Amino acid sequence: MRRLADLPVAGKRVFVRVDFNVPLDGGRVTDATRIEASLPTLRALLDQNGRPIVASHLGRPKGTRNPKYSLVPVAEKLGQLIGRPVRFADDCVGAAVEAQAAGLPAGEILLLENLRFHAEEEKNDPAFAGRLAALGDVYVNDAFGAAHRAHASTAGMVTHFRGRAAAGLLLEREVQFLSTLLTAPERPFWAVLGGAKVSDKIAVIESLLTRVQGLCIGGAMAYTFLKAQEKPVGRSLVEDDKLETARDVLARAATAGVEILLPTDHVAAEKPDAAAGRVVSADAFPADLLGVDIGPETARRYGEAVAAARTVFWNGPMGIFEVPAFSAGTRAVAEALSRCRGTTVVGGGDSIAALAQAGKLSAVTHVSTGGGASLEFLEGKELPGIRALEDAV
Ligand code: 3PG
Repeated sequence: MRRLADLPVAGKRVFVRVDFNVPLDGGRVTDATRIEASLPTLRALLDQNGRPIVASHLGRPKGTRNPKYSLVPVAEKLGQLIGRPVRFADDCVGAAVEAQAAGLPAGEILLLENLRFHAEEEKNDPAFAGRLAALGDVYVNDAFGAAHRAHASTAGMVTHFRGRAAAGLLLEREVQFLSTLLTAPERPFWAVLGGAKVSDKIAVIESLLTRVQGLCIGGAMAYTFLKAQEKPVGRSLVEDDKLETARDVLARAATAGVEILLPTDHVAAEKPDAAAGRVVSADAFPADLLGVDIGPETARRYGEAVAAARTVFWNGPMGIFEVPAFSAGTRAVAEALSRCRGTTVVGGGDSIAALAQAGKLSAVTHVSTGGGASLEFLEGKELPGIRALEDAV
């Protein structure tokens, strides 16, 4: 990929694809992490007299204009954070937007309305890609979070910028950290995986099995593994059609000498939103309860493994961490990560929220802005957004 520093931008209209898919509440940005993460690239462009035409998706409006998914609140937030004027275009293609882009003064930013208000964006429609390309003289992709999508703004339009397309600083940093995990992680390398479903994580588990020394499994996913070992799991969430997959993973880990840690105790409750739960041993899970968090002994074991590792990747909560009574296991992982002296990489909205809740965000080496994108990267898949940049060199 061409680096930003090698792309001449002075005086040019720079089409910058970012991932401003941020949570909103009543027209207000409630978490600006992704906007903040794009600031180094935008500042670098402004410093070199580039004129950034910034585009993003927000949510999944399914190809229709929906005020709920408008980027207007994001324009305001971006202006506050970067301290420069941010103009807003109420569409992302068309003559009016082209005129706004052409007339953008140096030192200012133009933010386009949600790309996904046009169904052609997700279809990677060539004509739509051409209309987007008409807005820029050069192209920069800083949207790591959307790099696993082959859409018009991440893939199709890049073909119009052969020799004039570069990776933004955020995208470059993400690729650097995640590539190190794939190719040269310092050992011992441990991964902590949580979340509800084995099916969502199976591809990354398979990829990690060839790379890690150990894997801690938490969240509802753990109950499928425990049931596969014929352990009692009460009424916990289990994917019965993935029991064979779980057995296969355990067998392959044993052959490869990869240690897989599963919960030895749990917090169990009558229902997922109960006010409180109780600690139960994994060998004596009450038939009428369901698992909502890893127990304290498990949290200690996982914490010890994580804190002693030289490289850690974490994705997915250990329990229903949005319920305060069931958040201790996830918090314990966040705290152990902050004690680890090696490289720590975290991906996925829930794990990041748990780190933020525990006040440990800054203690982690790299917080990936891509949930799905970081998982697909670690699965070893080629990401279309990255491939497009490589092809455009
Ligand atoms: C994300 O939030 O993971 C990215 O912005 C991609 O969003 P999508 O899953 O709607 O494509």
